[in-house]
Amino acid sequence: MSEYILEMTDIVKEFPGVRALKGVQLKVRPGTVHTLMGENGAGKSTLMNCLIGIYQKTSGKIVYDGQEVNFKSVKDALEAGISMIHQELSPVPERTVAQNLWLGRLPLKNKIFLDHKAAYDKSIEMFEKIGLDVDPNAKMKDLTVAKMQMVEITKAVSYNSKIVIMDEPTSSLTDAEVEHLFQIIDELKKKNVAIIYISHKMEEIFRISDEISVFRDGTYIGTDLAENLTMDKVVSMMVGREVTDMFPKVPCPIGETVLKVENLSCGRMVKNVSFELHKGEILGMAGLVGAGRTETAETIFGIRKKDGGRIYLNGKEIDIKSPEDAIANRIALLTEDRRGNGILGLLSVETNIGIANMKRYGFPLNHKLMRADANEYIEKIRIKTPSPRTPIKNLSGGNQQKVLVSRWLLTDPDVLIIDEPTRGIDVGAKAEIHSLISKLAGEGKAIIMISSELPEVMGMSDRIIVMHEGEVTGILGREDFTAESILKFATGDDTNVK
Ligand SMILES: Nc1ncnc2c1ncn2[C@@H]1O[C@H](COP(=O)(O)OP(=O)(O)OP(=O)(O)O)[C@@H](O)[C@H]1O
Ligand SMILES: [Mg+2]
Repeated sequence: MSEYILEMTDIVKEFPGVRALKGVQLKVRPGTVHTLMGENGAGKSTLMNCLIGIYQKTSGKIVYDGQEVNFKSVKDALEAGISMIHQELSPVPERTVAQNLWLGRLPLKNKIFLDHKAAYDKSIEMFEKIGLDVDPNAKMKDLTVAKMQMVEITKAVSYNSKIVIMDEPTSSLTDAEVEHLFQIIDELKKKNVAIIYISHKMEEIFRISDEISVFRDGTYIGTDLAENLTMDKVVSMMVGREVTDMFPKVPCPIGETVLKVENLSCGRMVKNVSFELHKGEILGMAGLVGAGRTETAETIFGIRKKDGGRIYLNGKEIDIKSPEDAIANRIALLTEDRRGNGILGLLSVETNIGIANMKRYGFPLNHKLMRADANEYIEKIRIKTPSPRTPIKNLSGGNQQKVLVSRWLLTDPDVLIIDEPTRGIDVGAKAEIHSLISKLAGEGKAIIMISSELPEVMGMSDRIIVMHEGEVTGILGREDFTAESILKFATGDDTNVK
């Protein structure tokens, strides 16, 4: 018997014009968390997709549970005991939670009719086991991303899998939900299940990994026990170059007020929010997931209709009813959820970069200029794509995010609102995006940066406004930034905060 539940060797995967995997290996022991690390586009998701039958590998060998396998479909892999929670979730939005959970294996009544009652009961039984509070009859599309993710995790667990693959599972979970996920992972380990974990969050990786394998640009770099590795070591294995300053906040003069928000309200998530934003300033927005930061941004940008309050731009009140109004006022918003808002999957990388800026390219479209713009950003923030004309859906998750960042930077706004700009982005590119943001502030733009990563928001901001349950609970100047004070405001506990 092998000590490994999974041995992948010499795996090659070629797409037309792209050699995504150039002969990589992965050996996973049962009952452990094995983390895959590598920059955006290194091939992590592709390797997993080859394992579970979404892609057919070009060559190589996969031995699972002592036998050579070649799954032809996700269903084959699932039935053999390998399940995957994807980076971009793909639940069926119009169906109920129970239907999603038991998709393709719903209990039947008298062997013919779907037994919805049984599906409901079985869902509740699973949720009890996992401690998840979701109504099995709720429509999938009405859940928060976090809940959807937990349902997907429940689904994986329900198959009694021997291997559960999690591709960036925590990207939209709150801290409490992350803790919950880690408990589930511990339980799975005790049952001898192997977890293959993909994440860009260093702290989290070192907390839960037993082993780490690093990939770079489609090649295998190495594997070691997590306890033998340090963050610096992993980073240098990943990027093969030095990553210097993570949060290069360049001090720059702060000018007059550009945007003034007064008592802005929208439903339960935005309550009497007031703040001012200055030229050259990076205003961080901190808070727990669900604090109302995204909703505030969406209300300013005209995605949501405000119930009350006023917005002034350069001293003049403006009335924004739609994103078009906002763009016309030179306000831009980079949204946090790239799947729902923003990615035009079938269209090229260059169109995805240029789309918010069509005026610039005129009519008929000046393709040359659009391509030049796209190439500039592809180079600047290292978007890994075979060509500007590649459909964006062929890019890795992190590289799609970089395309969206480029789109909004290119609109040359006066006010730039960026929501979780570096989520899912690898360390190297993170530093590049940070320095771009700093540079924009230096050029006199006013920037609101929503971020759930404390080091990022503390490193980059001039001031931080903290929200809790739709309200602004604190505004801090740079000299007062401490993790404790931000967390206190973020949890709504404003006692003892200096
Ligand atoms: N369907 C496809 N067609 C063409 N190329 C593809 C396709 N899927 C992936 N690729 C390419 O394969 C390479 C590896 O992508 P992959 O998604 O595996 O990266 P990743 O390591 O998961 O990155 P990330 O951290 O950004 O999620 C990328 O260069 C990507 O452009
Ligand atoms: Mg990926």
